[in-house]
Amino acid sequence: MQSSSIKEPEFTARPDYLPLHRAWFGPEEENEIIDTLRSGWITTGPKTKKFEEDFKNFCGAKHCVALNSCTAALHLAYAALDLGPGDEMITSPMTFAATANAAVHLGAKPVFADIMPETLNIHPDEIEKKISNKTKAVTVVHYIGQPCKMDEIKQIAGSKNIAVIQDAAHATESEYKGRKIGSICDMSAYSFYATKNITCGEGGALTVNRDDLIDKIRILSLHGMSKDAWKRYAKDGYAHYEILYPGYKYNMFDIQASLVMHQLKKIEKFWALRKQFVEKYNDGFKDIEQIKTLKIMPDIKHAYHLYSIILKTEMLKCTRDEFLAELQKLNIGVSVHFTALHLHPYYRDTYGYRRGDFPNAEYASDRLVSLPLFPMMNAEDVEYSVSAVTHLIKKYKK
Ligand SMILES: Cc1ncc(COP(=O)(O)O)c(C=O)c1O
Repeated sequence: MQSSSIKEPEFTARPDYLPLHRAWFGPEEENEIIDTLRSGWITTGPKTKKFEEDFKNFCGAKHCVALNSCTAALHLAYAALDLGPGDEMITSPMTFAATANAAVHLGAKPVFADIMPETLNIHPDEIEKKISNKTKAVTVVHYIGQPCKMDEIKQIAGSKNIAVIQDAAHATESEYKGRKIGSICDMSAYSFYATKNITCGEGGALTVNRDDLIDKIRILSLHGMSKDAWKRYAKDGYAHYEILYPGYKYNMFDIQASLVMHQLKKIEKFWALRKQFVEKYNDGFKDIEQIKTLKIMPDIKHAYHLYSIILKTEMLKCTRDEFLAELQKLNIGVSVHFTALHLHPYYRDTYGYRRGDFPNAEYASDRLVSLPLFPMMNAEDVEYSVSAVTHLIKKYKK
């Protein structure tokens, strides 16, 4: 047994900062940007249209509208369904604000349903309990890239004529039962934000499998102007347009497309690297009882967007936030995905949500730690992260 007078050896912080994420661009993106700048066409144009085709094919969807964010994609999906005052939209509290904010913008009420503790994905039974005669949509969030239980969710929602939308911000590469998730639902919203699996800084896309909604979505995405208005300044002559709806300004433009079109070509290479790092992390933490790693379900392809662990703080003499601060001091970039949305002041005060409403989401929300995960890191970076976390667990265990 170790004598209490023997101190744990000090852990030496690495000199350079290991960020939570770093985007990987190469000469392909750089050359494409220059080509776009020199082409004279910088807004929505041929490169955006080419990316829409490529992304649609990648996702196995019928249509794709390239946009300036996933938030825009969610807003358009809700608007296409005419979500509005008096309507309810069910979603997970373990998500980023945009999933619910976009419904609030249209006057609808977000109703949360608790999650499954093993994956932090929305629980189908909890969705069923929250359905009312006002429910118009269910938005699933594939937490950190692991698909939700889609058969069960589609069955529950479908039997009551409720639309299922996928917030696929984390789930570009995800598959469910051998199919890309973009092929299994009417509408799926993707993100190309700076930290996402493929990026153009800010960007997004909505894939659509309903022919009756696609024209409306395209029109709404560009001020409500009649079809193909993006071409109005093209060389084949000025085209008049009509305003059909009070639409939004959500179009992706060719500078963004120049980046993300090449990122898409590298998506499998990036994915394979992140997968390898996730496996290394899981292996590093497998014998630490104070850490819970998330379960990976059978029959799915995980997108490995983020690496999140749950710190069992009931077994530690420090809080999660103290743990985060210690990791920062050791030069490791950390984050929390997410603080449960119903605990944020707007949602708490506007809809009366409070602590105790969603126990599984709250348990995770108080304990989650995201560690660095990006394709440009290397095995030594993962080893460093694992050993820093292990050192802190030893330091703080009860
Ligand atoms: C689950 C989820 N949904 C939506 C979004 C919004 O994405 P964007 O920044 O592209 O609007 C994010 C962004 O981080 C997210 O994590």
